[in-house]
Amino acid sequence: MKILGIETSCDETGIAIYDTNLGVIINKLYSQSKIHSKYGGVVPELAARKHSLKIVPLIVAVLKKMNKRKSNFIDAIAYTAGPGLVGSLLVGASVATSLSYAWKIPKISINHMEGHLLSPMLSNHLIKFPVLALLVSGGHTQIVQCNKIGEYIILGTSLDDAAGEAFDKISKLLGLGYPGGKRISELAKKGRSEHFFFPRPMTNVPGLNFSFSGLKTFTSNVYLNSSKDDQSKANIAKAFEDAVIDTLIIKCKRAIEMTGIKRLIIAGGVSANIKLKKEARKMINSYRGELYVPLKRFSTDNAAMIAYVGSLRYKKYKDFSLKISINSNWSISDLFSI
Ligand code: KG4
Ligand code: ZN
Repeated sequence: MKILGIETSCDETGIAIYDTNLGVIINKLYSQSKIHSKYGGVVPELAARKHSLKIVPLIVAVLKKMNKRKSNFIDAIAYTAGPGLVGSLLVGASVATSLSYAWKIPKISINHMEGHLLSPMLSNHLIKFPVLALLVSGGHTQIVQCNKIGEYIILGTSLDDAAGEAFDKISKLLGLGYPGGKRISELAKKGRSEHFFFPRPMTNVPGLNFSFSGLKTFTSNVYLNSSKDDQSKANIAKAFEDAVIDTLIIKCKRAIEMTGIKRLIIAGGVSANIKLKKEARKMINSYRGELYVPLKRFSTDNAAMIAYVGSLRYKKYKDFSLKISINSNWSISDLFSI
């Protein structure tokens, strides 16, 4: 079976095909990051407009690359129905619904965060359950318990800024541009640790929730009072990255202690962070547990993960209706509410 995946929840237009026998056979992405870079973050209206311009040419390019002019080798269309930006989601949902009607094949609405959570399975089908998942993206920071595919319990969530969002805002502050995670990480490599120690927010209160907005303010204050030369910026980037990673690892450890589950998925855009993966591996090894992370190309937004989840959902959740369904706040713990 071949599933066409459509991802348009934020600022990446993604089109992919997942083949249940062969895996991901094509995965294309048009990134809008240059457009949003000058604003220091995603401008929703611009994102939606760009998706609407790019999505059809990208689908045509994918079909062409597969040497197919028609759709008759695709069995279903899986699209991101939420969470995400309303205008952007609507573009993907409208195109998925139109193609479903035109090609007479079903569509399947997919939760973006479930796409991230299961993204390590694109390269490793041997994930054992139950498993914990740290989902870290531009919009979410969550610790989720997954007892089986489709059943997710949110154990902790961010009360304000998500980890990725905090990276993006500090990147803007330091004049590094958007998206910020990778740029902060690069700069942090040149940083020295003896200069600053930043707080690890909410680690001294019980529970698994996160809050990164205070850390962001703390970082801004340090920066405003710093000399702003390259070395001092690098020191701040390092202190900030260390604080975020340490906080995430402390909370994951706590989740392991609380649940007794020693298997951990780390997924979402921030899972591309090399230091986070390194620290997580050290931590999970100390429990003799298992760590699952996606391949780098499947860490940040992509349609392959959406097509893959579509292949799992096909049997029970395929849909021929002409209703354009989205839910911009769709929670992973409430999958079948859409
Ligand atoms: O999952 P994603 O591609 O989009 C959303 O669903 O939001 O995540 C994007 C986020 C951005 O905030 C970006 O700065 C962050 O992931 N990110 C990183 C790294 N690469 C991307 N954060 C830290 N380190 C990275 N290497
Ligand atoms: Zn994402």
